[in-house]
Amino acid sequence: MRFKKPLNLLLKEAAETGEGTLKRTLGPGNLVALGIGAIIGAGLFVRTAAAAADHSGPAVTLAFILAAIGCGLAGLCYAEFAAMIPIAGSAYTYSYATMGEMVAWIIGWDLVLEYAVGAATVSIAWSEYLNKLLENFGVDIPYQLCHSPFQSSLQGVHGIINIPALFIIVVLSLVLIRGTQESATLNGIIVIVKVAIVVLFIAIGWNYMKPINHTPYIPVNTGEVAMFHGQKSFFDFFTHDFGKFGWSGIISAAGVVFFAFIGFDAVSTAAQEAKNPKRDMPIGILVSLAICTLLYVLFGHVLTGVANYKEFAGPGKEASVAYTIDTYMQSYHWLSILVTVAILFGFSSVILVMLLGQSRVFFSMSKDGLVPPVFSAVHPKFKTPYKSNLIFLVFVGLFAAFVPGDIVGDMTSIGTLFAFMLVCIGVIILRKSDPDTPRPFRTPWVPFVPILGAIVCLLMMVGLGEFNWLRLIIWMAIGFVVYFTYSKKHSLIRKGIVSLPRDPEPPMA
Ligand code: ALA
Repeated sequence: MRFKKPLNLLLKEAAETGEGTLKRTLGPGNLVALGIGAIIGAGLFVRTAAAAADHSGPAVTLAFILAAIGCGLAGLCYAEFAAMIPIAGSAYTYSYATMGEMVAWIIGWDLVLEYAVGAATVSIAWSEYLNKLLENFGVDIPYQLCHSPFQSSLQGVHGIINIPALFIIVVLSLVLIRGTQESATLNGIIVIVKVAIVVLFIAIGWNYMKPINHTPYIPVNTGEVAMFHGQKSFFDFFTHDFGKFGWSGIISAAGVVFFAFIGFDAVSTAAQEAKNPKRDMPIGILVSLAICTLLYVLFGHVLTGVANYKEFAGPGKEASVAYTIDTYMQSYHWLSILVTVAILFGFSSVILVMLLGQSRVFFSMSKDGLVPPVFSAVHPKFKTPYKSNLIFLVFVGLFAAFVPGDIVGDMTSIGTLFAFMLVCIGVIILRKSDPDTPRPFRTPWVPFVPILGAIVCLLMMVGLGEFNWLRLIIWMAIGFVVYFTYSKKHSLIRKGIVSLPRDPEPPMA
C-alpha cells in the first residue's frame, strides 16, 4: 500500500491556517528578481573556472546553455507542483501528497545534498574569497588552516582544516537560530550588486580578452589525443577520458556549473504568492533563467578569454575572478576588491537561504514522523527550530572544514539533479493518477517537457562521473537504512495521524 498525505486535507488545513491564502502580491518582475537573487553565487564565481580547467576549457559557455535547458524544463515541472499544492514547501511536501511516502523520503533525504552540502560548498568558496581579500591587507591565513586535509598547495603544503568556511557556517547558523527575516529591500540590493559586478566584469574584461586563450574553443578530448592522434572526433563518449574536454567534457562541465543555477526553484515555491500564476510562473522561471544564462555565458567567455583556462588548474584555482583581474587587468585592482567584497556578501545570503531550506525540509519531515522530533523542536523565545539548526551546524561544518570544495560542489549538483529528475517524472505520473486536481499552472507539452527535462538532468548526472554516482548511492543507501529502521516505524501517516507542515520561521521575502 502506498502511504500518501491526503491532498484534500492538506489543502483544507492550509486554507484554515492561512498558508493557502498567502497574499498574491508578486508580479513577474518580483519573481524574476527572486530567481536571480537566489541563483547567482559560488556556482558562477568559483565553479565556472573549475569546470573550464577540468572539463571544457572556454566551451564552459556551451555547458551553461546545456545546464540552463535542463533547469528550464525541470523548472516548468516544479511550477506545476508548486501551484497545485499551495503550501510553502519543497519537492518533499509535493511528493508526499502525490507520490507517496517512499518517494517523499527519497527526495527529502536527497535534498540534504542540495541544501546542507550546498551550503558547505558556498562556505568553502567564501573562504577562498576571504583569503583573497585579506591578502590586500597583508594578512595571510596559513594554507593549512584554510584548506581541507585532502588538498595540497602547488608548493606541496597540506591542508588541515578550513577554519574560515567553518566560521561562516557557525555565524550564519547562529543568525538563523536567532531568527531572520530577510527583507525584500535587502534582497533587492543584493540582486542589483550581484548583477552589477557580473556586468562590470564582462564589460571591462571584454577588452582584455586574447584570441589565443579561446583557441581551440572546445579543447580536444584527452582520450582522442591518444586514440586518434589529435584528430577531433564527435564521439568521445566511449574513450576512457570521458568528460576530459571535447564534447563529453561539455556535458561534464554542465554537471559542474549546474550548481550555478541551483536556487531558481525558489521561484516555483512562490507560486502561491504570484498574482497570476498561470502567466507569471513560466515568466518568472524562464526569464530569470534566461537572464542568468546570458550573463553566465558572457561571463564564462570573458573569464576564459582574459586568463587561459589551464591557469585555473594552477595559480588561478582559487578565487579565480579576483585572480584574473589582479593578474591581467592590473589597472582595475579596485574592481577586484569590489568583486571580492560583493561576493562575500552575496555568498552569505546564499548560505543563509540554503541553511534555512534545510531546516524547513527536516522540520516538515519531523512533523510527519520521518525524522526524530528534535528536528521540529522550536525555541521558546526565537520560535526557530534551533536544535535542528545546531545539528546541521555540526553536519555542514564538518563538510566545510574537512572536504574540498570540488567534491561537495559535485555532490550538491548530482543530488539536486536527481531531485529534479524525480520531479519531472512525478508530473507525468500525477497527470495519470490525479487528473482532476486543479492545476493553476500546467507544465506545457506533457509528457514531452518532463521527459526531456529528465533526460537532460540524467545526462548531466552521467557527466559528473562514477565517483559522484558512488557518493550519491552511498548517501541514498544510508537514507534507506534510516527509513527502514526509523522512519517507517514512526511515520504518522502510517499510524493514521495526519500532520501539517508549518513554517517555523517567517517566510523569507
Ligand atoms: N546557485 C547558487 C550558487 O551558485 C547555489 O551559489
